[in-house]
Amino acid sequence: MNDFIYDFPVKVYFGEKAAEKHLTSELAKVGKTVLLAYGGGSIKQNGIYEELTEILKKAGKEVIEFCGIMSNPTYAKVQEGAALAKENKVDFILAVGGGSVIDCCKIVSAQALLKQDIWDYEYDAHGTPTSFIPMGAMVTAFGTGAEMNNGAVITHEEKMVKSALWGAFYDFAILDPTYTMTMPMKQVISGAFDSLSHCMETYMGSPRKINLSDEINEATQRNIIRNIRATIENPGDLQARSELLWAAAMAENGLLKIGKTTDFQCHMLEHQLGAYTNCNHGQGLAVIHPVLYRRMMPEANESFARLAVTVWNIEPSGKDEADLAKAFVDVLGAFIKAIGLPTTFAEMGILEDTDYRAIADSTILTRGCPKVFTADELYDILLECRGRMVKQ
Ligand code: NZQ
Ligand code: ZN
Repeated sequence: MNDFIYDFPVKVYFGEKAAEKHLTSELAKVGKTVLLAYGGGSIKQNGIYEELTEILKKAGKEVIEFCGIMSNPTYAKVQEGAALAKENKVDFILAVGGGSVIDCCKIVSAQALLKQDIWDYEYDAHGTPTSFIPMGAMVTAFGTGAEMNNGAVITHEEKMVKSALWGAFYDFAILDPTYTMTMPMKQVISGAFDSLSHCMETYMGSPRKINLSDEINEATQRNIIRNIRATIENPGDLQARSELLWAAAMAENGLLKIGKTTDFQCHMLEHQLGAYTNCNHGQGLAVIHPVLYRRMMPEANESFARLAVTVWNIEPSGKDEADLAKAFVDVLGAFIKAIGLPTTFAEMGILEDTDYRAIADSTILTRGCPKVFTADELYDILLECRGRMVKQ
C-alpha cells in the first residue's frame, strides 16, 4: 500500500427530507447573503427550488441567484458566478444540482476571493487557492460524486481543454434520494455508469497488489451493477436510487483511493472528447471503456481477470488469466449495451468530422494506468469508437 493521510472534510446528511431536517441548522452557521446556484431549471419543475427558497427565507437569508449552469460547465460560467459572488459580497454558496453545478461552484468559491485568473494561477503559476467562500451541496443527480471532492472539471472553450481545477471542499452535502426521482432515465444510467467507471479507474491504478480499498471497491462495483439493473426494471425503486446515490459518493470520497495511485486514463480521453463535442460524460465513458480496455491487455490482465471473477461472477475453472481478462472486457461491453448506453460516438450524435487527432494529442497520459499509451494509440482508439452515422 502507498503511504496515505486520510482527512475527509465534507459532512454528509443522507436520507429522505434531509434538507428539511438539516439545512436550517447549517444555514445558521453562515452569513446573510447566499448565492443560490443551479442549472437549467429542473429544480423549478420538481419542487426543489420552492422547498429550498422557503427554507432560505425562513432563515432570513438574502438570496442572489446564479442560474443556467450548463452540463460540462464552462470557464466563462465560472467567471460569471465569481463576479456575481464578489459584487454581492456573498457569504455562502448553496449549489443545487448534479456534477456540473457542484463543480462550477467549487471554482466560483475560490475565484471570487482570488486576485489572479484562477486558470493561470493553477496551470501557469502552479498555485493552490487557499481562501474560499463556504459552500453546501444539494445533490439532485447521482453519478459523479463531485460533492465529495475538491476537483472540478471545467471546459475552457478558448483553449479547447476540459480539465481539472482545484477548489474548495463542500462544508456539507445533502443527499436526499427522493431528489433524484425526476432525473431523466438517460441521466440515471449514464450517471450510474460514471460511478462504475470511477471505481474501475481507481481499481486499475497502482500498486496492483490487492488491498482493502480494492476489496471495498469490488463490493461497490457489484452494488452499482445490481442497482442499475434494479432501477431500469423499476424506475420508482427508491432503495436502488439510494444505493446509487451513496455508491457515487463512495467512489469519490477518497476511501477507494487509499493507498493507490489511480488510473483515470479513460476519463482523461473522455474529458478531451467533451472539450471538442460537449458530449454527455457517462455516455462518452461507456463508448471508450471497452475499446480502451481491450488495448490495455496484456498489461492489465491480472486485474481484469480478478474483476471477471469477483465482480462479474465469471466461472474461472478451465480459463487462464488471459481468458478471464478477455471475458471481463466482453461482459463489460455486453452490460453497456444491455442497459441502453451507446457503443459508438455516432450513436451519441458526435459528428464524423470531429478532430480526433487534436483530441488524442491534447489528452493527458496518466501515471497510474497499467499501460503507458501514446497519442497515436489513443487516436486509434477514438477511431475505433467512432462508428458510422446512419443517415435519416
Ligand atoms: O440543469 P438542469 O435543468 O438541472 O438539468 C440537469 C442536467 O440537464 C439534469 N438534472 C439534474 N438533476 C435532476 C435533473 N433533471 C431532473 N431532475 C433532477 N433531479 O441532469 C442533467 C445533467 O446534469 P449534470 O450535472 O451535467 O450531470 P452530471 O452529474 O453527470 O455531471 C457532469 C459533470 O461532472 C463532471 C463531468 O465531466 C461533467 O462536467 N465530473 C465531475 C467529477 C468530479 N468533480 O469529481 C468527476 C466526473 O468524472 C466528471 O468528470
Ligand atoms: Zn466521471
